[in-house]
Amino acid sequence: MSCTIIVGGFFGDEGKGKIVAHVAHKDKPSIISRGGVGTNAGHTVQVGDKSYGVRMIPSGFVYPGAKLLIGSGVLVDPTVLKNEIKNVGVEGRVFIDKRCGIIEPEHIAQDKASEHLSKKIGTTGTGCGPANVARVNRTARQAKDVPELKEYIVDAAQMLNDAIDRGETVLLEGTQGFGISLYFGTYPYVTSKDTSASQIAADNGIGPTKVDDVIVVFKAFPTRVGGGPFETEMTREQSHELGIQEFGTVTHRERRIGVWDGELARYSAMINGCTIGAITGIDHIDPACYGATEYSQLTPKALEFLKKAEEDIGAPIKLISTGPDVTQIIDIR
Ligand code: IMP
Ligand code: MG
Repeated sequence: MSCTIIVGGFFGDEGKGKIVAHVAHKDKPSIISRGGVGTNAGHTVQVGDKSYGVRMIPSGFVYPGAKLLIGSGVLVDPTVLKNEIKNVGVEGRVFIDKRCGIIEPEHIAQDKASEHLSKKIGTTGTGCGPANVARVNRTARQAKDVPELKEYIVDAAQMLNDAIDRGETVLLEGTQGFGISLYFGTYPYVTSKDTSASQIAADNGIGPTKVDDVIVVFKAFPTRVGGGPFETEMTREQSHELGIQEFGTVTHRERRIGVWDGELARYSAMINGCTIGAITGIDHIDPACYGATEYSQLTPKALEFLKKAEEDIGAPIKLISTGPDVTQIIDIR
């Protein structure tokens, strides 16, 4: 019986999808609901030898027991949403808030045509920025205005608050990472909205006093896609030598890779109100940890890293991902 928020602590792509999937299977929420910007997010979830990339529906879809919601703060692209529901096979479980802002084809065209957005900022070209502009300008359509979305329309905030009041467990998942928050990130190289835990609560209509835990997910080797400062970035050659090479789920751009940034981790944990730290990619710190499921299997090198990270975060690290599969995780919550 609790409300837990899961957010990214660095620049996105921390492996939130995998952490959400694990936590959902273990905590058995009745609802998993998404906050965050919109279709700019790409979450990769690997189950067995199948890999799914989702941009609209919560990455917790792999847990079959939960309803899947999209909160009113999130932008919806009807085409992407409908394709995803079909491809992932979650028809009947997905509901979106009636007030979600709509991404129109013209927003995508504007995002791609703008030198400032597409070249300087390096946006994902999914129309999120221009759609949020339209929303702020109060010209955007809302989900309830779109006939093809009719079957999915609900009051997500009401459903979530009712579930919490009944004593059920709900999970709120964020997208993007702390470093690209419009308010706290590396402006102007940021996304079109705040990305911190408070925003994810607000996106879903959940008041701060109803939140029990905030899990902040940090990557042992942080990554960034698009432009903007990246304090601890290494050269492409260095990252390849370490055996790390990653590509974006939405844009397929090669991700920039850096070493652990203790100061950013500290600041991010502070603003997110982190109660539980999660670390992904510990197997890049020491390959001997690959696939470990027990704390006792971690090597001295990994433990030394975790000790330092825990000092930076200022909250206990209770989730440690040791490989891409949902089962490759240590959970000491
Ligand atoms: P936008 O969100 O498409 O406007 O892009 C603004 C910046 O945020 C660009 O640098 C994008 O690469 C970055 N960004 C947006 N969404 C994500 C994400 O889900 N993961 C990583 N980077 C993202
Ligand atoms: Mg991603």
